[in-house]
Amino acid sequence: MGSLYSRAEIYDLFENEQRYEAYRKHWETIFEGKDIRSMLDVSIGSGSVTLPVTELGVKLSGSDLSSEMLKNCEKKASAKGVHVTLKQSDFRSLDCWGDENFDIVASTGNSLGYVDNADVERTLEEMNRHVRPGGYLYFDSRNWEKILAEHQRFYTYNPLFDGDNRVNVVQCWDYNDDGTMVFNILYTFERDNRIFQREIFEEHYNPFPKALAVDKLKALGYTDIEVKCFPSQFPAVEFEKLEWYTVIAKKSEKSLDR
Ligand SMILES: C[S@@+](CC[C@H](N)C(=O)[O-])C[C@H]1O[C@@H](n2cnc3c(N)ncnc32)[C@H](O)[C@@H]1O
Repeated sequence: MGSLYSRAEIYDLFENEQRYEAYRKHWETIFEGKDIRSMLDVSIGSGSVTLPVTELGVKLSGSDLSSEMLKNCEKKASAKGVHVTLKQSDFRSLDCWGDENFDIVASTGNSLGYVDNADVERTLEEMNRHVRPGGYLYFDSRNWEKILAEHQRFYTYNPLFDGDNRVNVVQCWDYNDDGTMVFNILYTFERDNRIFQREIFEEHYNPFPKALAVDKLKALGYTDIEVKCFPSQFPAVEFEKLEWYTVIAKKSEKSLDR
């Protein structure tokens, strides 16, 4: 079984204008009161979450491990008539960005959990190297603490109707003894109530507690650490009830890092 990110066209199937608009609103809420004109997303994928920032006057750059996802991002950016600088890179080492720095460096789409907990800290260090003094570091993540407390296994989603075809998605999550998780994702494509195509993907995650990342940001000298729901325009609820959260933190103006 392969990774969904080698099949970017399937990953993007459920995209629509409503989602795009929700993400645009999310960034508008996150950026409020902050001077943000340039952004680097180190897990930009096909750009679903971050392409809308280009409509807010922000110059977007992005990197990702998957060349397929980056290709789709490029296509989607061209279709919108915007330019995004894209590079292929593992976020644990962001040397591809040289000494460039940005007003905000982000990891979007629940991507930090792809690496083990020690590497989450290392990735935050790497991201920090590209945040300008007084800039921001941002990530969003599923609430792994809630997931591990509830151990829910099956997730179903509303189907997508595409002409005569219907696409169904079901996820089944495995909780491994070593603390890692596997999201098994099944897509079925059907017409006239018959399945004519099935695609199964396996995504491997390393749950991490929010405190691990927040403590690392504090150690790196970040202040004004805000934890919000994702998307951030949703009504605020206690952290324990959040399915998905965002963290945004401010780097010291006096930081000596690049
Ligand atoms: C759920 S997708 C999110 C993509 C995009 N941010 C979005 O929200 O649509 C997770 C992304 O993380 C990327 N990824 C996983 N491990 C990575 C790593 N070590 N370095 C950089 N990107 C990684 C995958 O290739 C994939 O594009």
